[in-house]
Amino acid sequence: MSNPKLTSLVFFLFVISFPTIESTTFPADTAALAAFKSAVKPSSIPPSSCLASWNFSAADPCGVPRISHFTCGVTCSGNRVVQITLDSQGYVGTLTPAISKLSQLIALDLGDNSFYGAIPSSISSITNLETLILRVNSFSGPVPAAIAKLSALETLDLSRNQLSGHLPDLSSLAGLTRLDASYNRLTGPLPSLPPNLHELALKANSLSGSLTKSSFAGKNRLVVIELSENSFTGALESWFFLLPAIQQVDLANNAFAGIAVSKPPANFNSQLVAVNLSYNNMEGLLPATFADFPALRSLAVSHNKFRGPIPWQYSKKGSPLRRLYLDGNYLNGHPPAGLLAAAEEISGSLGDNCLQNCPVSSGLCSTPQKPNSICQQAYRGKP
Ligand SMILES: *[C@@H]1O[C@H](CO)[C@@H](O)[C@H](O)[C@H]1NC(C)=O
Ligand SMILES: *[C@@H]1O[C@H](CO)[C@@H](O)[C@H](O)[C@H]1NC(C)=O
Repeated sequence: MSNPKLTSLVFFLFVISFPTIESTTFPADTAALAAFKSAVKPSSIPPSSCLASWNFSAADPCGVPRISHFTCGVTCSGNRVVQITLDSQGYVGTLTPAISKLSQLIALDLGDNSFYGAIPSSISSITNLETLILRVNSFSGPVPAAIAKLSALETLDLSRNQLSGHLPDLSSLAGLTRLDASYNRLTGPLPSLPPNLHELALKANSLSGSLTKSSFAGKNRLVVIELSENSFTGALESWFFLLPAIQQVDLANNAFAGIAVSKPPANFNSQLVAVNLSYNNMEGLLPATFADFPALRSLAVSHNKFRGPIPWQYSKKGSPLRRLYLDGNYLNGHPPAGLLAAAEEISGSLGDNCLQNCPVSSGLCSTPQKPNSICQQAYRGKP
């Protein structure tokens, strides 16, 4: 058959004359997909959505050719389902424990829907699972400890649900690079972390306790730490800013009480770019050593209880600092001349402190300083 028109005609006839395509999918996978769908409220499945296309009496999910009917949201490898990536249609339902029957699943993404109820522990038996994305749903209850058995897991995104309880110990997950459980109701301390994590995001939970060196020991790939809007306490110790790969740190809106920052060793190529420690209870002097981090462009320590002068080092020649938010503390003395001179290149705020000669004409000083009475009280009997 060299005539391409004839070939496609024959192919077309084949498709329309055999509408019942022979079943090729591994039967347990088809059954698990059907169970998955039956746990979703039919009224939340729009006719044009992916889940509406899951009609396995009309089409086998892994069947070829996929011309007459295409099962959207499902990817197969041979006769096995390896991926479910649902569209975001506001599907309302629970995640059936039968999901674990999809034993060859590599990726499960149900993001931006309205799934509710528990994350089934049975999920831990999907041993090939690399990506689990349940973000922006209404899952509740604990993060199952059994997730720690998903040894192939690389991405875990549980953000924006209503998960509660303690975060389980996930330190056994050697392949996990991204962990995001932000915007949930998690409590308790930070557990030991997976060894090869790049991104840790647990923003807006109710986590507490201090950041211990043992949680972070050996986390040599950690680039992003986003722990703002929690209830962490204690002091940040100098090892923290010397984590080997660290670039971005956001610890704003916690209850950290103190900070120690030591100068990076000569052979240490710090990539630290941005630090946000705003809205904590940090006391003492501002660490001048932040100026020794060669890549640090943004430093925010607004609304703490720092006192004493602004370190002149922040505006020393060659300083990379371009954003400097020091407002809402008890800083006193004169702002470093170099800083005011560089106000064109440096954005931020020095307002709401106890500074003298912070000219309101400078963009950095446009917010007024604290009233004298408050500053006198803050420094009464103290330097
Ligand atoms: C599924 O497909 C069959 C065969 O094409 C059809 O008769 C049936 O109405 C479909 N079911 C749904 C729920 O669309
Ligand atoms: C620091 O965090 C606070 C609180 O979340 C936020 O308002 C502020 O914009 C952040 N500052 C910078 C420079 O990112």
